[in-house]
Amino acid sequence: MSAAMPDAQRIWDHCAALGRLSELEGGLTRVFLSREQQAANDLVLGWMRAAGMSARLDAIGNVVGRYEGERPGLPCLMMGSHLDTVRDAGKYDGMLGVVAAIECVRALHARGRRLPFALEVVGFADEEGTRFNATLLGSRAVAGTFKAEVLDNVDQDGVSMRAALRAFGLDPEKIGAAARRREDVLAYAELHIEQGPVLEAEGLAVGVVTAINGATRCAVEIDGIAGHAGTVPMSLRQDALAAAAECVLAIERRCGAEPELVGTVGKLECLPGAVNVVPGKVRFTIDIRAPRDPLRLAAVDDVLAAMKAIAARRNVRLGVTKTHEGGVAACAPWLMDQIGAAIAAEGVPVRRLPSGAGHDGMAIIDLTDIGMLFVRCEKGISHNPAEAITLADVATAARVWLRFIENFDPSRKP
Ligand code: GLV
Ligand code: MN
Ligand code: MN
Repeated sequence: MSAAMPDAQRIWDHCAALGRLSELEGGLTRVFLSREQQAANDLVLGWMRAAGMSARLDAIGNVVGRYEGERPGLPCLMMGSHLDTVRDAGKYDGMLGVVAAIECVRALHARGRRLPFALEVVGFADEEGTRFNATLLGSRAVAGTFKAEVLDNVDQDGVSMRAALRAFGLDPEKIGAAARRREDVLAYAELHIEQGPVLEAEGLAVGVVTAINGATRCAVEIDGIAGHAGTVPMSLRQDALAAAAECVLAIERRCGAEPELVGTVGKLECLPGAVNVVPGKVRFTIDIRAPRDPLRLAAVDDVLAAMKAIAARRNVRLGVTKTHEGGVAACAPWLMDQIGAAIAAEGVPVRRLPSGAGHDGMAIIDLTDIGMLFVRCEKGISHNPAEAITLADVATAARVWLRFIENFDPSRKP
């Protein structure tokens, strides 16, 4: 393998190395501002420097590598993805995009090649929102849309984001310093596994993303009355879990009624949580997505109305906080064209497809135009340790990505 081409095996090995940095033994969980994230950042900073980039941690803990263009200080093509994971994750969601972009820069550096623009690779510190009930924190900071009120969000152990940032060595008051100026960023381009079955079904290694579906997330709290499981008659109960169960089914029913809509309750906590106590309090999350904003917003309204009616009928208190609202993020046609051209030049038919999953581009779109390349993943499985890709697809994707980077033409930007 010539040093001047991306080495798929190196990408593979680096994903495996990141996959070992986990709080979950025998699996992969790496959340925002954790010890494991510190270790991942250190690894990635080292890889960036070895690839010929200058590299630093920004004010929210994103890893940022920079490869200057033909002269120092030129605006950049920003690439990257996230380094955090969901709980019990696969090892490609996010990481593949960071590692592959670094590998492309390494290949350019090996050729001594400088481009008429700078390249930056960002490993975003939080995309998944696993720890603090707030998502896209790293990319929002870069886009300048980070909301200071989330600093008071707490994790499952009661640690606030503010305290966790301090413990990580970051200053919560200075997150604004991570924001980038529009004139310094020409575009954002992200390589990511598809996390769905379309490319596999069509026998394609890669595809061009057209848009990222919009999403609404809520945190719900239901307060009933805890009581003795043996003495409180069924007719007199205010059971928070029974009410939550009805809500979960209402969400499933509403979101199942339209093929483009998806709705999920992914986390549910029942308190006090004892075999002989009627549940007094339940907390759960809602995640509703669709490729069209009006479809999603109507479903959210209906679900909230249905939950209100359930709570009133069961005489429990319902509290709903919206934790995320992101509209459909359309990829820029000029970037789709250039990514498509790179795919075609590698001899792969150009397939365009939307993304059902969320990505950092949803936040970065407030800063600059976004484009994405999807890589086939086995059976479309993701957010699951069974997430799998092939070395051959990594090689194809990396060649496409390098070709896209080398031929990137910002003058096509409308
Ligand atoms: C992130 O991967 C999301 O789509 O929730
Ligand atoms: Mn994910
Ligand atoms: Mn991801």
